Amino acid sequence: MHVEEFIPNTSPKKIGSGSVGCISPSNIALVKYWGKKPHQIPANPSISFTLNNCNTKTILRYSPKSTEGFSFEVYLDGKKEEDFRPKIEQFFERIIVYAPFLNSFHFDIETTNTFPHSSGIASSASGMSALAMCIVALEQLVYEISNEVLMKRKASFLARLGSGSACRSIEGGLVVWGAHSAILGSSDLEGIAFPYEVHQVFKDYQDAILLVDKGEKQVSSSVGHNLMHNHPFATERFQQAHDHIDALIPILKSGDVNAFISIVEREALTLHAMMMCSDPYFILMKPNTLEIINAIWNFRTRTQIPVCFTLDAGANVHVLYPKQHASQVGQLIQAKLSHYCQNGQYILDHVGKGSEHIKI
Ligand code: PMV
Repeated sequence: MHVEEFIPNTSPKKIGSGSVGCISPSNIALVKYWGKKPHQIPANPSISFTLNNCNTKTILRYSPKSTEGFSFEVYLDGKKEEDFRPKIEQFFERIIVYAPFLNSFHFDIETTNTFPHSSGIASSASGMSALAMCIVALEQLVYEISNEVLMKRKASFLARLGSGSACRSIEGGLVVWGAHSAILGSSDLEGIAFPYEVHQVFKDYQDAILLVDKGEKQVSSSVGHNLMHNHPFATERFQQAHDHIDALIPILKSGDVNAFISIVEREALTLHAMMMCSDPYFILMKPNTLEIINAIWNFRTRTQIPVCFTLDAGANVHVLYPKQHASQVGQLIQAKLSHYCQNGQYILDHVGKGSEHIKI
C-alpha cells in the first residue's frame, strides 16, 4: 500500500459555495496504541470498538477564494473556538499534499459533540474523523469521484494524520490500525474493519463511560507517545500488543468473554504501567479509578457476570459488558459506580456503525 494512491491526479473542477456534513463516533481501544514513529505511524498495531452515542457532528461550509494559504474559522456549539485553530492548522499542513484543494476555499467548520465538551472524553478521535470525512466529501465534488470505498479509506488515512486513533472511527464494529502479520490488509496508514468472523456477543457490546475526572490531563497523549521512545520496556510492550491481537482473533470468533476480559484488562493496566515507568513518570489514574476497578472485580467475582474495564489515556473508566447483562450492570453503575464519578456523570454507549455523511 502506497501513500501515492491518496494524492489526487486529475484536474480539479471549479465549484461554488456549499456545505458538506458528517457524524463520526469516538472509539475505545481494546489493544492500545501507545508510541509512534514520524508521520503518525503507530509503534504497534491496535484494535478498537467503534462507539455510537459519543460522536461529533461537523458541517464544513466552503466558499471559493483566490488568495493563497489556509483560511478557516472553527465554531464549537455555535461559538467561535480559537483554541482549536492550531490543531486544525497543523492538520491542514500535514494533509495538503493529499488535499491540495484546501487552499482554494475559505472554510467555516461548525462542530458539536454529543458528550460534554470538558467531560475528559477525548474529542480528537470523533472530531478529526468527522473533519476528515467532510474533507473527502468535498474532494468527491471537486474531482467528481464516485469511488466510495476508496474515499472511506482516504478519510481514515487523513484522520490518522490529525490524531492517530481517529483513523479507527471511520469503519464500524471492530477496527484494526497498524500492520499485523495475521490480519490481512492491516496497515500503518489507515484503519480497516476487522476482516474475520466475529461472534454475535461482540457485535453489540456495551460501553458505559464513567466520568471520574473531567479536568484537563496533566500529560497529553502526544507527550505520552513520545516517552515510549527511550522507554526501558518499549520493545516488550510493542511485541505484547502483537501477541494480544494474535490471541484475540480466535476469541472474537468463539465469543469467549472471559478470555477477552483477561486481554482487555491487561492492556489497560499495561498502558498505565508504561506511563508509570517512563522518564519522567506520571500517573493519570485517580483514586476513584481504582475504586471502580475494585468494585468491578468484586461484582464479577460475586455474580460471575463478565463485566470488565478498560482505560484510555486518562482517569475515566470504560465499563465493557455483553448486552444481555445490561440491566444488572446498569444497576451496579447506578447504585455504586456512579458515586465515584464527578457529579455522578456517566454515558451509556455501545458498538456502532462508524462515520456517516449527512445531508445539510
Ligand atoms: O490518538 P491519540 O494520539 O490521542 O492516542 C490515543 C492513545 C490511547 O487512547 C491511549 C490508546 C488508543 O489506542 O486509543
